Amino acid sequence: MIKLDITKALVSAAEIEAVKGQVIAAQTALEEGNCPGNDFLGWLHLPTGITAEFMTKLQECTQTLRENCDTVVVAGIGGSYLGARAIIEALGNSFQWLTNKGENPNILFAGNNIGEDYLYELTEYLRDRRFGVINISKSGTTTETALAFRLLKKQCEQQRGKEMARRVIVAITDARKGAARTCADKEGYTSFVIPDNVGGRFSVLTPVGLLPIAVAGFDIAKLVQGAADMEQAVAEGVPFEENPCLKYAAVRNILYRQGKKIEILVNFQPKLHYMNEWWKQLYGESEGKDGKGIFPAAVDFSTDLHSMGQWIQEGERTIFETVVSIEEPEHKLLFPSDEENLDGLNFLAGKRVDEVNKMAELGTQLAHVDGGVPNMRIVVPRLNEYYIGQLIYFFEKACGISGLTLGVNPFNQPGVEAYKKNMFALLGKPGYEKETEEIKKRL
Ligand code: PA5
Repeated sequence: MIKLDITKALVSAAEIEAVKGQVIAAQTALEEGNCPGNDFLGWLHLPTGITAEFMTKLQECTQTLRENCDTVVVAGIGGSYLGARAIIEALGNSFQWLTNKGENPNILFAGNNIGEDYLYELTEYLRDRRFGVINISKSGTTTETALAFRLLKKQCEQQRGKEMARRVIVAITDARKGAARTCADKEGYTSFVIPDNVGGRFSVLTPVGLLPIAVAGFDIAKLVQGAADMEQAVAEGVPFEENPCLKYAAVRNILYRQGKKIEILVNFQPKLHYMNEWWKQLYGESEGKDGKGIFPAAVDFSTDLHSMGQWIQEGERTIFETVVSIEEPEHKLLFPSDEENLDGLNFLAGKRVDEVNKMAELGTQLAHVDGGVPNMRIVVPRLNEYYIGQLIYFFEKACGISGLTLGVNPFNQPGVEAYKKNMFALLGKPGYEKETEEIKKRL
């Protein structure tokens, strides 16, 4: 199992004791459905509830896409793409693009920005490809995703013909409402439902994450198994000392109350960059409301030790760190010896590269703790489907408990509507006439 180490979190046993009852109460409220946002708790027992029938339907669709596409574009934004991207990048070869000999389709992402150049360059790239599209939107009305999907649908139909497009365009959306549902039903696309009671940022273990991950060639059964095992390991009734979700939520809330307003998620493996992004959304959107919430930041070490390291070591003391540490790499590479030894590094020759990385990790932890930065470590035995499944569920459940302990509804996101309203007013969307008039006065 993955493990949480809080021995360097700079919190005392008495402080833990004082908050223990609150996080346990938050967990009970979550489990009993007595909490704010209780209509969005479908993720809580999702891993153990996944059926063989559902997996078979996913695998059939996966096979169709893999047989007919060299490239699959996932159109989605926020919770409708970050989980899939995080896991595909964590598990995949860092040079998949360059090394792919056709055994797995390349997975690209669109619909998560409004960059004209990005979309232009994407459509150019796809010109010679046998590509398919997974269109993911719970609401079915998100502008970024709808824009990308319009472009991709048209191009796919023109390039591959209407009949093949029908086979290689898949929709993942609401069961009944929204443009993505209407379009899927009208065109006869294979479609999957995002359950009503699962919010975007908690949806990676629904088809939103599982289909793209399976198409990329990874074992989603192992991913789900890892999540299900973690679901059991942190179930209600598991004592505080053995429940990493309760401990993580407790320490975060203690530190926040002491003025540590920023949590930095740290990795020492570049493949985990998008796990950071997924985590930032999960915690940022869940906790940042009502004038409260830890600001979730993230860095990739050792890369960012050469840029953000100075701030973390000596800047304002309002931060704490949570390190995701991978115990064992998948490959073996030794530090080379060099006859001239111009860089003076021959003392490392013959050591595993990972040993050097681990000493960078330990040295950084000690330096940052000395600098007044509390440190938690999440130790993940291997970077594979099973342990990523555990990590995903661990972060989700800890997030629910932590947000409830903070005193917010962790399952809504009213704040994300503000920019949309202004954007539509500025663009003159029908129905927004009054807002358009008002906003123009401010320009
Ligand atoms: O977590 C969330 O709710 C958001 O990030 C949404 O997933 C995101 O805004 C995309 O929404 P939709 O899936 O409706 O297109």
